[in-house]
Amino acid sequence: MLNREVVELLNEQINKELYSAYLYLDMADYYVDQSLNGFENWFYVQAQEERDHAMLFRQYLLNNDEKVTLSTIQAPAQQYDVYEAPLVAALKHEQMVTASINNIYAVAYKDKDFRTMQFLDWFVKEQGEEEKNTTDLIKKYELFGSDPKGLYMLNQELAARIYAPPSLVI
Ligand code: FEO
Repeated sequence: MLNREVVELLNEQINKELYSAYLYLDMADYYVDQSLNGFENWFYVQAQEERDHAMLFRQYLLNNDEKVTLSTIQAPAQQYDVYEAPLVAALKHEQMVTASINNIYAVAYKDKDFRTMQFLDWFVKEQGEEEKNTTDLIKKYELFGSDPKGLYMLNQELAARIYAPPSLVI
């Protein structure tokens, strides 16, 4: 049996991951409007990964005979005025998710819940990768995005991103 606070936080994390999927889908749709299909693809893949993350948290709770409690997913309410805006908002969002994962880890650590810590290790690493990928994308955009040819090439590069299921098996 897991610590009650850990269970509550893991359930909240399902919601946060599903919200992340929603948010990235909304960003993908913004780029559809802008006719930037590569940026759309990058965020669509991101949304799929976030859904996977939610399912991993769900499965971990079920594997530990804990109840899954689903709650309302907030609608993304952001408006984007420039192409770079979703990239910057995505990085800020990932930093918030990292803080949330770290908080669950801290509570699990306090409770000597080594099983949950081990489960979360994958997410700690994943958050590092997600923050880096988004930061790299912002840097690329800032370098090349203001030039139409550069933007075209970057869009092509992002169109090649392929969805891969998570490496974590639980
Ligand atoms: Fe599942 Fe991007 O955090």
